[in-house]
Amino acid sequence: MSQEDSIQHNRATFRPSGRIQFGVFFQGVNSGTIWKAPESGSQTDFESFRRIAQTAERGLFAAFFLGEGLRLREHLGRPHALDVAGRPDAQTMLAALASVTRNIGLVATQNTTYNDPADLAHRLASLDLLSGGRAAWNVVTTDNAWTGANFRRGGYLDHADRYVHAEAFVRTAKRIWDSWNGASGEGAAWERVLHEGQHYTVDVTPRLPRSAQYRPVLFQAGDSPEGRDFAARQADVIFSAHPKFEAAVTFREDIVARTVAAGRGANEVQIFPASEFILSATDEEAREKKEWVRSLQIGPQQAIAYLEQFWGRELSSYDPDGPLPEIDPVVEETSETRGSGFHGAKARELADQWRAEAAEKGWSIRQFVSSRTARIDSTFTGSYSSVADTLAEYARVGAVDGFNISPWIIPSGLDDIVNHLVPELQERGVYPTEYAGSTLRENLGLAVPVLEAGLVPAGGVR
Ligand SMILES: Cc1cc2nc3c(=O)[nH]c(=O)nc-3n(C[C@H](O)[C@H](O)[C@H](O)COP(=O)(O)O)c2cc1C
Repeated sequence: MSQEDSIQHNRATFRPSGRIQFGVFFQGVNSGTIWKAPESGSQTDFESFRRIAQTAERGLFAAFFLGEGLRLREHLGRPHALDVAGRPDAQTMLAALASVTRNIGLVATQNTTYNDPADLAHRLASLDLLSGGRAAWNVVTTDNAWTGANFRRGGYLDHADRYVHAEAFVRTAKRIWDSWNGASGEGAAWERVLHEGQHYTVDVTPRLPRSAQYRPVLFQAGDSPEGRDFAARQADVIFSAHPKFEAAVTFREDIVARTVAAGRGANEVQIFPASEFILSATDEEAREKKEWVRSLQIGPQQAIAYLEQFWGRELSSYDPDGPLPEIDPVVEETSETRGSGFHGAKARELADQWRAEAAEKGWSIRQFVSSRTARIDSTFTGSYSSVADTLAEYARVGAVDGFNISPWIIPSGLDDIVNHLVPELQERGVYPTEYAGSTLRENLGLAVPVLEAGLVPAGGVR
């Protein structure tokens, strides 16, 4: 079965929208953004956020997206060299951005493991109201004891249990938003939300009326089977990790099957993969630009720090342009960067494997690390018109609904996309030419949500 046919078998129910949208993922703690170039701004100044959000809005982006890092990763007792210290609280930042934007959606990544549903539901409802119905919540579960230590809980909840907890949390939040019946003020009515579960018990009444988009849009990020099923049942949009065409089609097929199995419509869960765009006037120029971007993203210090994560020891005496270290890792398992996603690989085996591979190819440390990071490359590189052709194909097949773009430089990283790529996409008829409405739900083309069980809608429902 061809790639396209694999979606086709669900076509009775799934219909490609024939268009794509963009979101922007402003990362703070990461090595994908170049923070040390003459044109780099600050990762904490409001000005950086304002410029990116307003540029995105000029390009009719659906959403401005902030991640969440609850604790700076540490490595050999210091803040991890691949990270950038400083990430302002998402909801505070989005509230400020709401006042300097009009249409773009404002998405806050917030975890279910360390928050409380009544409190988080209220804060998100506040953002939704003050932004005129533009708020969204990217639901994550955030795993690891290192983060948990910030919240007096340590290694709270194992993986499977985190999603059981997340689902009870999200359903409780939805019920809180749904439980306000009617307009605010006189005649307003609400219902008590009672939840008694394995992880917590709440007895809560809502404190705010509904927003212009009824309730915040729900994104989800987390790629395990449990995470995907959770999204299929609860989310409006998945922030996925599968931007490459074949993987995107396979992921769509998987999500459509899970969504239909959960009793929802095949088109009900949209997909926006994480991505990066390196563009120029010609394909050749774009390829050269990519080399330059990569050399700044993975400098000598980053290359050494990358290996140190796996070796668990100081490697700064090694030449980044020389061979991989001949000394062995001092750890059994690669869990040494506290808070990193790399767990459990056998460090010694990995080192042997990597040394052999680098020796065979004649690679230096830097070349090796570049090739490793290229394997998880989510970059679209090329001329404006060739990348637009590529994206038009995604739209035609329905591989994704949009792309969540991480700019590789802040604050100018969207300029190229908005000035050159967006018009090319509009010419091909696959990108919006105006905002469909004033709320995020309208702009994404999402239906009015189904009420959580046991609650009766009243006036004011759009
Ligand atoms: C594209 C993507 C973006 C994510 N962004 C964040 C984030 O900003 N903060 C966070 O704590 N976790 C983030 N996560 C991690 C998820 O919360 C989740 O904890 C993790 O992926 C483990 O769940 P899983 O086993 O279902 O993948 C992200 C995951 C994906 C796939």
